[in-house]
Amino acid sequence: MAVQIRRDGAVAVVTVDRPEALNALDTATKELLLGAVRELSGDDTVRAVVLTGAGDKAFVAGADIAEMKDMTSEQARQSAALGQAIMSAIEAAPQPWIAAVNGYALGGGCELALACDLRIAAENAKFGQPEIGLGITPGFGGTQRLVRVVGMGWARHLVLTGHHVRADVALRIGLVQAVVPRDELAAKARSLADELASRSPLAMRYCKAAVQAAGNVDLETGQGIERDLFALCFATEDQKEAMAAFLEKRAPEIKGR
Ligand code: CAA
Repeated sequence: MAVQIRRDGAVAVVTVDRPEALNALDTATKELLLGAVRELSGDDTVRAVVLTGAGDKAFVAGADIAEMKDMTSEQARQSAALGQAIMSAIEAAPQPWIAAVNGYALGGGCELALACDLRIAAENAKFGQPEIGLGITPGFGGTQRLVRVVGMGWARHLVLTGHHVRADVALRIGLVQAVVPRDELAAKARSLADELASRSPLAMRYCKAAVQAAGNVDLETGQGIERDLFALCFATEDQKEAMAAFLEKRAPEIKGR
């Protein structure tokens, strides 16, 4: 099974599991991953998702090079479309996705991490878009999302040089939000997922959608989206309860309504 889903309470852990190929994304794995994103997106008992790679070496080492080698242009276009559909589905998911980057996140692996809402790296993680060395461009959204996440300067550096960067550099340039020792990664990602899962799932979904919009629309339109989502929050029981709990100096009882 190249993609595992493990549910534990309100958190699901999705593991790309092809360690013999450093979890490289071939078509079968991509289809399983897209299926996993869709399945979890339709499950309102899942309030946060952790995405990681199997084994000690890699998160995901990219698209599968052996599979790509003899592709025609048309096959490459379809392959990119499937990869991009996964990334868009993660961004559109109602729950926050946390990438727990446990090793190489290269090419499609870096792009997968970029599609997640939050990124935590182990100290051994390495990031990069090495496609230039293979005679291709990134194809799963990397050229677009890198610019949005780390800005044009670092995006150009990563895409044009193909150089890998270590976790400490990834932290400095804002590609990840935290770096932890390898053996603490799963627990750290899990505790962050638990924290997010304890919040109002509707407000979480709206926060995710509002921030997402900022990368895609002009300020005026984005503020309009923010206003609408802000207003929607006030139609939820969770907003009334969370504000009452604050004023009464107690923990809120979040119901997801
Ligand atoms: N596709 C297919 N197989 C891969 C792979 C990939 N992306 N990455 C690693 N593997 C395989 C290797 O071929 C090797 O298989 P065998 O044992 O059968 O020989 C196995 O995984 C272990 O890899 P290495 O022996 O190379 O391990 P290493 O520790 O020496 O090097 C590495 C690790 C630096 C990550 C190196 O494997 C590597 O450079 N991998 C390719 C990274 C890459 O270029 N990714 C981008 C792909 S293109 C892409 O993703 C396009 C896009 O935008 C969608």
